[in-house]
Amino acid sequence: MGPSVCTTERNPMAAASSPELPTAPGPGGPSSGVLAAFEAAKGFMPLHEGLALHAAATEAARLGLPLLEVGTYCGRSTILLADAARAAGVTALTVDHHRGSEEQQPGWEYHDPETVDPEVGLMDTLPAFRRTLHRAGLEDHVVALVGRSPQIARIWNTPLGLVFIDGGHTDEHANADYEGWAPRVAHGGLLVIHDVFPAPEDEFTGQAPYRVYLRALASGAFTEVSVTDSLRVLRRTRTGSDPRR
Ligand SMILES: C[S@@+](CC[C@H](N)C(=O)[O-])C[C@H]1O[C@@H](n2cnc3c(N)ncnc32)[C@H](O)[C@@H]1O
Repeated sequence: MGPSVCTTERNPMAAASSPELPTAPGPGGPSSGVLAAFEAAKGFMPLHEGLALHAAATEAARLGLPLLEVGTYCGRSTILLADAARAAGVTALTVDHHRGSEEQQPGWEYHDPETVDPEVGLMDTLPAFRRTLHRAGLEDHVVALVGRSPQIARIWNTPLGLVFIDGGHTDEHANADYEGWAPRVAHGGLLVIHDVFPAPEDEFTGQAPYRVYLRALASGAFTEVSVTDSLRVLRRTRTGSDPRR
């Protein structure tokens, strides 16, 4: 494998066109060491969205419940959940089958040949994820759940302080993530959704996350807390998660 520093930012123009976006942590933000590990990890999250995710995770961790991410990839965003979990004495959980999303497969825009296991001939981001966490010194604060998100969600009953949805971008996958994990967000806990692009011309990988975000708001169970580019933070303020149930 080549150098570990190979960051793919999904929509660099979004950050470039917004000069007021934060590029350094505020009080209670990640340390310089954690930020360096985040910047060095392969992944798709720009810094300003990462800082917003860290702030949400830090707040949610005060509930004393686990923080869960759907979509580990190589661990870039996991570092931020793990750091917030470490500070609060809770655990970060991260779910991924590690075979990559549709747009990350060979021949697609977000494919990274370094993520392919040459023996099996399929993507396998688990080794890179483990290296990322090891380098960040955060292994003790993360439990990796390797498998398909709906399959794991079906057997998961523990309430969660935060659910961060950053998995597959088809309607099928994004809706399954919402249906599987949103019901587990505790009262006062946070639901965070990445890659929410209301304008079709801004989206790079489809608008399914935007539709899931609208679905969460329409449920009446979640109230918007913050918007940082494509990262939306919602708080559970009522029970339920779907107006159709
Ligand atoms: C956009 S990447 C996650 C990026 C990561 N959060 C970061 O900050 O770099 C999406 C990940 O979701 C995983 N994924 C997609 N569909 C999934 C599913 N149904 N179950 C589990 N993992 C899935 C893919 O393997 C991929 O690693």
